[in-house]
Amino acid sequence: MTSSSTSNTDSDTSRKSSLAALKGLLPFLRPYRRQFVLAGIALLFAAGATLAIPAAFKQMIDHGFGAASASAGSQNIEHVNAVFLALFGVAAVLAVATAARFFMVSWLGERVVADVRAAVYRHVVHQSPEFFETTRTGEVLSRLTTDTTLIQTVVGTSISLALRNTLLFAGGLVMLFVTSPKLTAIILGLLVLVVLPIVLFGRRVRKLSRDSQDRIADASALAGEILNAMPTVQSFTHEGIEAGRFGASVEGAFQTAIRRIHARATLTMLAIVLVFGAIVFVLWLGAHAVLEGTMTGGDLGQFILYASIVAGSVGALSEVMGEAQRAAGATERLLELLASRSDIQDPAHPRPLPPRTANGARVTLDDVSFSYPSRLDAAALSHLKLDIAAGETVALVGPSGAGKTTLFQLLLRFYDPQAGAIRLDGIDIRDLALHTLRGAIGIVPQDTVIFASSALENIRYGRPEASDEEVIAAAKMAAAHEFIERLPQGYGSFLGERGVRLSGGQRQRIAIARALLKNPPLLLLDEATSALDAESERLVQRALEAAMVGRTTIIIAHRLATVQRADRIIVLDEGRVVESGTHASLVAHGGVYANLAALQFQGHAPLERQAS
Ligand SMILES: Nc1ncnc2c1ncn2[C@@H]1O[C@H](COP(=O)(O)OP(=O)(O)OP(=O)(O)O)[C@@H](O)[C@H]1O
Ligand SMILES: [Mg+2]
Repeated sequence: MTSSSTSNTDSDTSRKSSLAALKGLLPFLRPYRRQFVLAGIALLFAAGATLAIPAAFKQMIDHGFGAASASAGSQNIEHVNAVFLALFGVAAVLAVATAARFFMVSWLGERVVADVRAAVYRHVVHQSPEFFETTRTGEVLSRLTTDTTLIQTVVGTSISLALRNTLLFAGGLVMLFVTSPKLTAIILGLLVLVVLPIVLFGRRVRKLSRDSQDRIADASALAGEILNAMPTVQSFTHEGIEAGRFGASVEGAFQTAIRRIHARATLTMLAIVLVFGAIVFVLWLGAHAVLEGTMTGGDLGQFILYASIVAGSVGALSEVMGEAQRAAGATERLLELLASRSDIQDPAHPRPLPPRTANGARVTLDDVSFSYPSRLDAAALSHLKLDIAAGETVALVGPSGAGKTTLFQLLLRFYDPQAGAIRLDGIDIRDLALHTLRGAIGIVPQDTVIFASSALENIRYGRPEASDEEVIAAAKMAAAHEFIERLPQGYGSFLGERGVRLSGGQRQRIAIARALLKNPPLLLLDEATSALDAESERLVQRALEAAMVGRTTIIIAHRLATVQRADRIIVLDEGRVVESGTHASLVAHGGVYANLAALQFQGHAPLERQAS
């Protein structure tokens, strides 16, 4: 799914299939048939008026200027007035029809792109984590912005340009033949000579212009990543290196742009010389015809105007083809994105959960084995059997990489295990709607996520319909109330992008409050108190103990002080349960846990070091 592999689709070989990709847009266009018809009508009027102008000009020249000097009379003056009035009338029709077409067509472009953007985003946010492991978010963003903009060009301008210029080309050609078949035959020959090199050269310019767009996208992707990691960059004093990298990237874009501009300048020169050469040549032939009396001055004027309409439409059509091909590539990429199916789907017939009991939910892991899709050869969990009773508090301990967080991810059904089953209150979680399953689980993740909004809204994320009082109660429970009150605007304080205005421990307490506000029957805490000092940890610990009443809780913790009071401690290593029991029984047993406990309560070695 790399963008580079699909962005070259408008090469000559794939030209046909690439334009066919635009068909994929039809479902998005279908709801707006009426607007298309209206735009089409406006288009017909505008093209008709454009084609009428040269004829009106001929009238003006032959019967206005030419005749006025020859034989002046009141009848003639009236005729002149009528001719000029008609010309203005045609211009007025052209003005109204063009404005109407522009409005309708631009409206369609904006509307369709808004629909496409919303559809793609809606689709992407429903994807499972596997999707985000393989797709860079920057790529999704660029598809949402750049690719949809290209589609907007097609719907909003290219379609109408193509139709208008086809009409003008056909109509102009017919009128040319009507005016002077002989000159038309000559000009058709010239057209091939003039337009062919312009079209060929234009294709080269377009390729260069796409290159330069890609370069700019590269540069901004680079800048985006670095700006998000400023503290790291500065702590390694890599400012100079990063500035240099971006500078080089921008320089690359500049070089590509200059090559494009150079080609474009040449193209412009070529076009002007060829087009004017042809026009002057035909004018010269026409002037001779007028001198010989086989053509009137008005005829010649009319002819020149039609010829320029036809030539202009050919140029515009070739331009439109290029746009359409680029948009076809963009459409292909977007449709590819829309076609990707998440492995984690709602079941066809979801079962409901039994009504919530006073104790919370029962969790059963039945011989669960799991490997991450990107690392199928290594088992993250193997043959895991666990039965956690409703209302029980279970602590998961074990060295780093043992599979503790993985277990939580499976409980939330971010992935499905390759073997075995996970049950919530006796129901296989694959038979539950994702909404039901995840609605029953509150999680405080290992890496807390704070959104760029106020403290109040961040906690309310746990249950969007919660009142302010409920939010504050949850904050008090999570020992977050005091520090929030001391923020400059209290609960209304903006926490900064990714919560940069908070300390790590404060972020954790916000995340705990968020999970508590949700009031789920199953609470998952992944290192929820790891960033807290001893004092705050004791506070949060006490709060959590209160919060554990009436629900099942699974706690992951490295610090054993946090887990001592759990009903049961499960020691996980390399995806297997190696020991389980209470703190006292495990210490008495004298196994892995007893070792950890001995080391930790002496106070030094971190769990992961000595266990691995
Ligand atoms: N998204 C992923 N894709 C592939 N492998 C992964 C992914 N996430 C974790 N792993 C691997 O799975 C194993 C278990 O990881 P997990 O996050 O469950 O460990 P953990 O017990 O939570 O460790 P820690 O105490 O450091 O948080 C590790 O070897 C890890 O490298
Ligand atoms: Mg973990």
